Amino acid sequence: MKNTVVVGAQWGDEGKAKITDLLAEYADLIIRYQGGCNAGHTVVVNNEKYKFHLVPSGVLYKNKFCFIGAGTVIHPETFLEETSELISRGVDLSLLKISPLATVTLPYHIDIDGISEDNSGKNKIGTTKKGIGPTYSDKIGRYGLKIQDLYDEELLNSRLDAILPLKNKILEKVYNTKTYTKEEMLKKCREYAKIFEPYVYNEWVEKLSNALKDDKKILFEGAQGIMLDIDYGTYPFVTSSNPIGGGAATGSGIGPTHIDNVIGVTKAYVTRVGEGPFITELTDVTGEKIRNIGGEFGTTTGRPRRCGWFDAVLSRYCTLVGGLTQMAITKLDVFNDFDEIKVCNAYKDRRNGKIYKDYPTNINMHKYLEPVYETFKGWKEDISNVKSLDELPENAKIYLNNLEKLVGIPIKIISVGPDREQTIMIENPLI
Ligand code: GDP
Ligand code: IMO
Ligand code: MG
Repeated sequence: MKNTVVVGAQWGDEGKAKITDLLAEYADLIIRYQGGCNAGHTVVVNNEKYKFHLVPSGVLYKNKFCFIGAGTVIHPETFLEETSELISRGVDLSLLKISPLATVTLPYHIDIDGISEDNSGKNKIGTTKKGIGPTYSDKIGRYGLKIQDLYDEELLNSRLDAILPLKNKILEKVYNTKTYTKEEMLKKCREYAKIFEPYVYNEWVEKLSNALKDDKKILFEGAQGIMLDIDYGTYPFVTSSNPIGGGAATGSGIGPTHIDNVIGVTKAYVTRVGEGPFITELTDVTGEKIRNIGGEFGTTTGRPRRCGWFDAVLSRYCTLVGGLTQMAITKLDVFNDFDEIKVCNAYKDRRNGKIYKDYPTNINMHKYLEPVYETFKGWKEDISNVKSLDELPENAKIYLNNLEKLVGIPIKIISVGPDREQTIMIENPLI
């Protein structure tokens, strides 16, 4: 069995989309399992750039069934914009389908996200303001609207009757913002129903059952990253879903017994957008150098990404909670011109000298922790066209060997540039 999950194994933007696109060629089905349009996924094929937010990154291949699973939250207007742009660029979306169980991001979710962030002062999370937290809160609180609700007038009426009175009180009294009448919401929901109509896939139970019976290869695409996981990330500076490998089971409709590999996509260094602790962060010229060479600016919000050295303590934690079986190391080429590269293998508590080799989950103490580094020599040559492990400079091999040793799982894919072609595939998990 080859069913494989691609997850971000840091704080997002690790290059998941590039790896998903690359592996999609060998898969029959590609399923995006969580998150919403907070995700910004970039794929580069022959110098052409595609940016995805909701649509699975495997959509660029013909004849691949691409499914947006029940664990996602979908903002109709963003979905319309994204699909329209892809269609205008000639991408065939006839096999793009959405689970009727996915949750709809409604206008007030976006209003609430924005107001909450703007009023949180130093406590802000630094969200993408795409309504993600409020949509997932409503889903868990059982005040959400599922895509299938849009197509059943009786159900839609009763859901809005259940949702709107309380929601409007909250919008008015807590957030001091616009409320929504039932008529307004019904009109919007009819528009949403039209937007989703070509894509809603009520036959998903049969499709996925048959795929498993026929031994089809399934690729699961995660969004965000394990350190942004609602349960295991740096809470509250996290997103509101489960990017971990286990999230693929809950979010796709295919149980954990059918998952064979979990690839942790990991940058050769670490980045983070938004607020929250980041022990190996570099706020100096070296951080600036990584940001500039790596083009570390957000795909969704354009914000500069915070940059720092590779953190093996964090990667070992991600391996455990994410269920990682292997790593894909991306952006190795960003270090082409570095004399030295550091890797953090432990944290030291400034107050008492205590050493942590395992990730401490109480983020309140992270401000007292400093990284303990091992230093490696750079390779000082351009590796962006290297096609095999053997061709890599010796110092790059030493760096990668040490990452494997420190994290404890093998590296099976190495990415040396944004393009599909700029990849060293040591072993393809789908073959
Ligand atoms: P994702 O959210 O994990 O899919 O990652 P993003 O697309 O947000 O950010 C990764 C960025 O790095 C994108 O602009 C990619 O085109 C680019 N990228 C991916 N892999 C590599 C690589 O190996 N080297 C370089 N230089 N860029 C890469
Ligand atoms: P991809 O899939 C990087 C971050 C936000 C913020 C926190 C909560 O491209 O890797 P949210 O809007 O989700 O409530 O914001 O999570 N965040 C991401 N950071 N990559 C992403 O997605 C992210 N999606 C959310 O910056 O810190
Ligand atoms: Mg991204």
